[in-house]
Amino acid sequence: MKKISNLLNLLCILLVFTGCEPPGSKYNLIYRSSDPGRQNLLTETNTIELPVEGNIPIWLNGTLLRNGPSWFGSNPLDASMHWFDGLAMLHGFKIENNRVFYTNRFLETGALSLAKNQGIFAFRGFATNLYDDLLQNMVSLLFLSEGAPNANINLYRVAGNYLALTELTPPVQFDKESLRTVGSFPYQDDLPKANVFESAHPQYDIDERCFYNYIVNFFPRTSYLIYKIPENSSRRIPLVEITEEKPSYMHSFSITKNYIIFTEYPFKLVDSILFSGKPFIKNYAWDKCTKTKITIINKNCPCDIKTYYTDPFFSFHHINAYELGSNLILNIIAFKDNQIVDRLGFFPECLEPSFLLDLRIDLAENRVNQRRISFEGSADLPRINPAYNGRPYRYFYAVKFEKDRHLVMKWDTQKNTPLFWSQKNCFAGEPVFIQNPLGSGREDDGVILSLILDANEKISFLLILDAKNLKELARVPLLFSVPYGLHGQFYK
Ligand SMILES: [Fe+2]
Repeated sequence: MKKISNLLNLLCILLVFTGCEPPGSKYNLIYRSSDPGRQNLLTETNTIELPVEGNIPIWLNGTLLRNGPSWFGSNPLDASMHWFDGLAMLHGFKIENNRVFYTNRFLETGALSLAKNQGIFAFRGFATNLYDDLLQNMVSLLFLSEGAPNANINLYRVAGNYLALTELTPPVQFDKESLRTVGSFPYQDDLPKANVFESAHPQYDIDERCFYNYIVNFFPRTSYLIYKIPENSSRRIPLVEITEEKPSYMHSFSITKNYIIFTEYPFKLVDSILFSGKPFIKNYAWDKCTKTKITIINKNCPCDIKTYYTDPFFSFHHINAYELGSNLILNIIAFKDNQIVDRLGFFPECLEPSFLLDLRIDLAENRVNQRRISFEGSADLPRINPAYNGRPYRYFYAVKFEKDRHLVMKWDTQKNTPLFWSQKNCFAGEPVFIQNPLGSGREDDGVILSLILDANEKISFLLILDAKNLKELARVPLLFSVPYGLHGQFYK
């Protein structure tokens, strides 16, 4: 392996000396976008205590860990690295008896080392491809395959290990307190560990105390491989493999008590992820002639699979699903097609409108009813009370995107009405719900944690809201602003 690495190093050097210089290397590391959420944050912080304005509930103790892109490149002629491809930074907010301690650190990845040491932003990204040449792209892909991937999407905990997640494996382990990177995480099993897609949204099953997730195999044949992993184990247990010639790009999925639900959008794999030389998402294309396929896998008998078809739509995030008699109810934040994927790369002032898609699948009658409920704009990054995952629920929390602010939104699925928290020029991050263990037990008896970017003050602050009414309880300002993040989890 070392010899291969040396050979690839040599090949890269040769490419530079023959004039095929990676474009990032000849520019200063300055990002020129004017969007406040797309400014590079390069500062890392050893643990410090932050001032608290307001009162944090006495019961709220634990750590909010957040992941997201933080360094968007250096090329002033191409200030367009896709939002999803910024280099990963972890943020930790440890809350202890009304005090908050903060740490942030880059994930130490192959991509970070190249950027820091050589000023080169070239890696196997989601949508960014800084080389124009197919061969160069393939070399960079192979060259970086030994380093930990830029796992900037989400995180989760298995067998006491904290793992940063991306969609192109493997996960990257880090220390929960210092946020220092341990390295690529070796699952103790025989399932593929590299060169496959793996969803960054594993679904926790409350009864089984395990996560469900899936892999997409690209070679030698394309397939979905569904597995589960007990929360105290690092061994993934395969359940079923479904061969699919053109797998869809599915960022997330749902579970219920008895089922796993995939929504296979018409956003289909049409090129070879491993051999095309294109960035990951450029191998997918929207097929105007195809509907969205709903695939339902019986957890208790995984070969028992049913499929249904609906009008085409695209989604990043399922909200929740549950069973009601012979019906499966599936709620999704959906878009009419895949245009949002490119639009999010630049984060324009106005995003494509999204809608709440309420699907009712009658398993007895083999029928699907669908309702599209408008958000009157664009919303995404939904979260629920995690105790209701896969169970009947009423509320979800999300971000509503507007031109001069991003709002925290609470949505009542019974009334289909929203409640908002907002402040002008403040850009909210994903709202994470934490249940009050001393409370009434109501679904919304708890708090919302959201990291807000205040563009006026050029700082970010952790906002703590009462989840019942979205009234502010406390805010905890940082000394700098944090770019728009992706996902986070709260651990006690
Ligand atoms: Fe996501």
